[in-house]
Amino acid sequence: MKIGIDKIGFYTPHMYVDIKELAIARNVEPEKFTIGIGQEKMAVPPITQDSVSLAANAALEILTDEDKKTIDYVIFATESGIDHSKAASIYIHELLDLNSSARSIEVKQACYGATAGIQIAKGHIALNPESKVLILGSDIARYGLHTTGEVTQGAGAVAILVSKDPKIMTIESPSAYQTEQVMDFWRPIYSDTAYVQGKLSVDQYLSFFQSVWKEHKEKTGFELKDFESIFFHLPYTKMGLKALRTVIDEGTEADKDRLLANFEISKRYNTIVGNIYTGALYLSLISLLELNDTIEPGARIGLFSYGSGAVGEFFSGILQPNYRDALFADQHEKLLADRKEISVAKYEEVFQDTLPVGIDNIALPIDEDPATICFSGIKDHMRQYVNKNK
Ligand code: COA
Repeated sequence: MKIGIDKIGFYTPHMYVDIKELAIARNVEPEKFTIGIGQEKMAVPPITQDSVSLAANAALEILTDEDKKTIDYVIFATESGIDHSKAASIYIHELLDLNSSARSIEVKQACYGATAGIQIAKGHIALNPESKVLILGSDIARYGLHTTGEVTQGAGAVAILVSKDPKIMTIESPSAYQTEQVMDFWRPIYSDTAYVQGKLSVDQYLSFFQSVWKEHKEKTGFELKDFESIFFHLPYTKMGLKALRTVIDEGTEADKDRLLANFEISKRYNTIVGNIYTGALYLSLISLLELNDTIEPGARIGLFSYGSGAVGEFFSGILQPNYRDALFADQHEKLLADRKEISVAKYEEVFQDTLPVGIDNIALPIDEDPATICFSGIKDHMRQYVNKNK
């Protein structure tokens, strides 16, 4: 049975800061951020967007009423969760009127979580061929003002529908995966910003990529020539390029040209959104699928997923006939074009506009947020959300 990605969409908030302006404000040469890190714009979430509302907005655009009836499993991957106990996916059920005859969970392993969700979904559909599984990867990347990680922040969510006979991409087996205990990045329960050993995280990412790439080759016999494109988890776009460069010499000149040219297209959305943690790899996939005009159905693509802490996985997929017809390119073009730039001073103000820990009641200014679904406040310690279309 063919199992894989039937639909895929994303959402990012309506505000961004220009990375060159951030560099100037931080007394850094702009080229360090634009070339050395490889970013242009960084999404800034208002207080009325959290991981739940971002994910709900991403799913809203891709699901039909028929999908909502057929989904029997919702897997929410995040490392910016809003509750230690309750799964974020349950709020999505109510906001989008999903069928209640469903399983609904939250999974966590840093930026790897959505890939775990996809592999769980594949197993579930193998046992239940009529099922559809909704995977949500949603995060707000926060390192803090004036930190070295600041330029690698961002916010957004991807929504992925996994089914049999998928319209976009089948997921192949086997994949190669690895787990090691590493403290390269973590966020203690008491902190709303991440702790990171930046250089260690870069080294670990590259080391995991080389290990799982090698293991995948041994398991499948696939080499660079077999891949039309290789996608990477992109905390910032230079990171993926660094990884690609570690293996590019294994191929011919034609392999190099193809993979580097496709990498350029695959990083485009990430360059102007920033880091969205769990969704970053899949935002890159959406970028290439929507912006390329040469990749034919039947092409094999490779995906490298990495979550600090750390888990890495390399797997592959095959693009399906008419995959372009199943994309949401026009909606995404509009979403990105409608965003507004804010100054660095405004970004700093928005960044620090957080809810006091333990606040029991508050109403938030949802009229200032153009998103359809917003985090509207807290009542008696219960988070409130609105779908303005309901
Ligand atoms: N023009 C062009 N490039 C420049 C430059 C300039 N004027 N000045 C510096 N650079 C380059 C550096 O040479 C370096 O490139 P390289 O990585 O190819 O060697 C790059 O810019 C970054 O400089 P560096 O000094 O390493 O940056 P940093 O110490 O400020 O931190 C991170 C970079 C990524 C470690 C930091 O942003 C971070 O911790 N991010 C969060 C963690 C993360 O995203 N990890 C990724 C794996 S999960």
